[in-house]
Amino acid sequence: MRPLVGEALVAQLPALAQLRIEVFRAYPYLYEGSLAYEREYLQGYARTDGSVIVGAFEGERLIGAATGTPLRAEPPSVQGCFVACGDDPSQWFYFGESVLRSQYRGRGIGVAFFREREAHARRLGYARTCFCAVVRPDDHPQRPPQWQALDDFWRRRGYAPLPGHVGDMRWRDVGDERETAKPMQFWGRLLP
Ligand SMILES: CC(C)(COP(=O)(O)OP(=O)(O)OC[C@H]1O[C@@H](n2cnc3c(N)ncnc32)[C@H](O)[C@@H]1OP(=O)(O)O)[C@@H](O)C(=O)NCCC(=O)NCCS
Repeated sequence: MRPLVGEALVAQLPALAQLRIEVFRAYPYLYEGSLAYEREYLQGYARTDGSVIVGAFEGERLIGAATGTPLRAEPPSVQGCFVACGDDPSQWFYFGESVLRSQYRGRGIGVAFFREREAHARRLGYARTCFCAVVRPDDHPQRPPQWQALDDFWRRRGYAPLPGHVGDMRWRDVGDERETAKPMQFWGRLLP
């Protein structure tokens, strides 16, 4: 596993797009991804100083990745609820996504994704890190019976929901004809 910045980050954007489309297709994201959207969205990391991709590799192949970027570089759908809550977005480093192919889960890679991104945030001088997660109703028709929320995993990493910090992101769910807005709960921590 290694943190990638600059040209090394840019080189992995196509592989990250594939991972996002594959992994976020599952509940709770149900994301009907498109390469066109991914290209545009992921360019944000290429454009922004301070961005990182923590890449997990098998050989040269990216099998999982976690991203981070300064929150102040994010669009209003991401940083807006911090502003509305009276927080200064420039104090926060934002984790964009963690995506790991299912056959590689449960080996500690997700824990390492947090450790590496927090170390990167600290190197840049940030004391606060955050991420967001989609909120689905408990009785969502596509929720698999065995599905388990990641809330306990995140709490064990030191994160807690930030009261009132609920963003609003739009994408097309698998099986839907058009995009819909989703509530996104932010979680955060003060780094030790
Ligand atoms: C989130 C995600 C990356 C976590 O990946 P993961 O590698 O399975 O997570 P880990 O194996 O590090 O951690 C899971 C648990 O297994 C434990 N674990 C299992 N084997 C381990 C090992 N060999 N070494 C260390 N920890 C291990 C971890 O300690 C952790 O338990 P804990 O919370 O009690 O500490 C993965 O579930 C995923 O891609 N999910 C789908 C996408 C998603 O929802 N992303 C989050 C929102 S963007």
